Amino acid sequence: MNTTTNKLFQLALQAYNNAYAPYSQFSVGAAILSTNGNYFYGCNVENISYPCGSCAEQNAISAMIASGDMNIAEILIIADSCELITPCGACCQRIKEFSTPNTIITCCNLQGTQQQYTINQLLPNGFALKELKHD
Ligand code: THU
Repeated sequence: MNTTTNKLFQLALQAYNNAYAPYSQFSVGAAILSTNGNYFYGCNVENISYPCGSCAEQNAISAMIASGDMNIAEILIIADSCELITPCGACCQRIKEFSTPNTIITCCNLQGTQQQYTINQLLPNGFALKELKHD
C-alpha cells in the first residue's frame, strides 16, 4: 500500500469505527483524496426509517463538496468482510459525478487487503451529463 493509500486507509478506518449502523450491523468507512490534495472522510449513517440511511461514500463526497473541492483523485472504502465490497450502484453514480478516468477506487477490508478499480470498470455505462444536454 503506498503512502497516499495508507493515509486514506487510516482515515477511512477512523470513520468506519464511528459508523452508525445499528440496523444492518455493517459498518463502512470511506476516505477521499481530492485532486487539490485535501482529505475527506465519511461513514454510513443509518436510520430507524431505513430508506433515510446514507452510505459512507455519499457522506465523504458531501464533505468534499462542502469544502469546495470537486474532483476525486482517490477514494478508499473499507468494510469488515473477507470478500472485498465495492461501492453500491448509487454510490458508483455519485463517484462518477466527481471522477476522471484516472480516479482510483480502492476497496479494502480491515486487514488491508485491497483491490483497485476505475469508475469505468465499476460503472461502465453510468448515466452521463451529456444525456441531459438538449442541443
Ligand atoms: N453501505 C455503504 O455505506 N456503502 C456501500 O457502498 C454499500 C453499503 C452501507 C449502507 C448500509 O448502512 C450498510 O452498508 C448495509 O447495506
